[in-house]
Amino acid sequence: MKKILITGGAGFIGSHVVREFVNKYPEYHIVNLDALTYAGNLENLKDIENKPNYTFVKADITDAAHILAVFQEHQPDGVIHLAAESHVDRSITNPTAFVMTNVIGTVNLLNAAKEIWKDNFEGKRFHHVSTDEVYGTLGESGLFREDTAYDPHSPYSASKASSDHFVRAYHDTYGLPIVLTNCSNNYGPNHFPEKLIPLCIHNILNNKSLPIYGDGKFTRDWLFVIDHAKAIDLVFHNGKNGDSYNVGGFNEWQNIDLVKELCKQVDEKLGRPQGTAAALITFVKDRPGHDLRYAIDATKINQELGYQPSVTFEQGLSVTIDWFLNNQEWLDNVTSGDYQKYYEGQYVGNS
Ligand code: NAD
Ligand code: TYD
Repeated sequence: MKKILITGGAGFIGSHVVREFVNKYPEYHIVNLDALTYAGNLENLKDIENKPNYTFVKADITDAAHILAVFQEHQPDGVIHLAAESHVDRSITNPTAFVMTNVIGTVNLLNAAKEIWKDNFEGKRFHHVSTDEVYGTLGESGLFREDTAYDPHSPYSASKASSDHFVRAYHDTYGLPIVLTNCSNNYGPNHFPEKLIPLCIHNILNNKSLPIYGDGKFTRDWLFVIDHAKAIDLVFHNGKNGDSYNVGGFNEWQNIDLVKELCKQVDEKLGRPQGTAAALITFVKDRPGHDLRYAIDATKINQELGYQPSVTFEQGLSVTIDWFLNNQEWLDNVTSGDYQKYYEGQYVGNS
């Protein structure tokens, strides 16, 4: 049986990757390693937690000794690494946490894999999950390709860029078998309400203002989270050793247009007059160092591995809004406690 260790499997994207692998590959054993920070939530995996091919291990990737012990105990053949501090705004207030988890944590995982595989890399693979933000910002035109130079601006993207470099360095120096994916912005069920789309859905449901940074003309390329999980599955199994693959949906939206579309769909679903949610839109102070535009050229993964997103943005957004409307208890749980402090620090008085 193939053993695959997935880090960050209790988070937003990780939980969809764990589910995809547990359900699709009953012959594999999936070990989900997660520290359960504010962003990790085992509620995300209720439907699969009792499957015989699934194990959860609570561990912090900054703890090198514990990570090595977990690798020695479970002897994974493959690693899919998603654990990270993932929010740009939090990286601006606490960059060190991002260095610790995203850089040191990644190196601890690489060391543990190298140690237990003992230079016998046959049938082994370390898949590092990264972001398009490592490429920096685009102007009005152009797309990020795999050979675009790294130019990160935020502490988050700098820490992810550094982790990508370490993963490649372990390939080039020690021959560790690796693949990388650099994906655009994800959205979907279980998205933590610190990011734009779930934050706006949560605020609409609570009749709170929808904070748009700057002039709202910043552009992101949005991909449904399950389509990211499918891309990870493809690259993990069929990607070329040592290569990276950009993942995106050719789906660019300016923030203000995206939030207006979201408002329109929520009003429709709640049977309210159009304009009710949009009246909550409020322009607030811009994010420092805010990247203008991200957009992925996904030609390589499409041509080499036959990858295609399975849903349109309209479909994906509709499924996402429905999920939040049907899971208000999940939203209430994750927005109680520490979230309130975060929200006040980030938004109150910031207009
Ligand atoms: P998330 O913040 O929702 O989840 C992160 C998970 O990692 C949580 O379960 C958390 O408990 C865990 N974690 C954090 N620190 C840890 C530590 N020290 N040890 C062990 N576990 C720890 O993040 P996400 O949005 O699901 O992103 C997952 C990965 O995908 C990240 O590597 C991120 O950089 C990358 N990514 C995210 C996006 C996006 O739009 N969200 C896009 C491209 C790439
Ligand atoms: P976010 O979801 O934080 O993802 P990222 O910064 O990783 O792209 O932000 C997406 C875009 O939305 C980004 O341009 C910042 C903007 N934004 C707002 O305008 N208001 C908000 O409250 C948030 C969280 C983001």
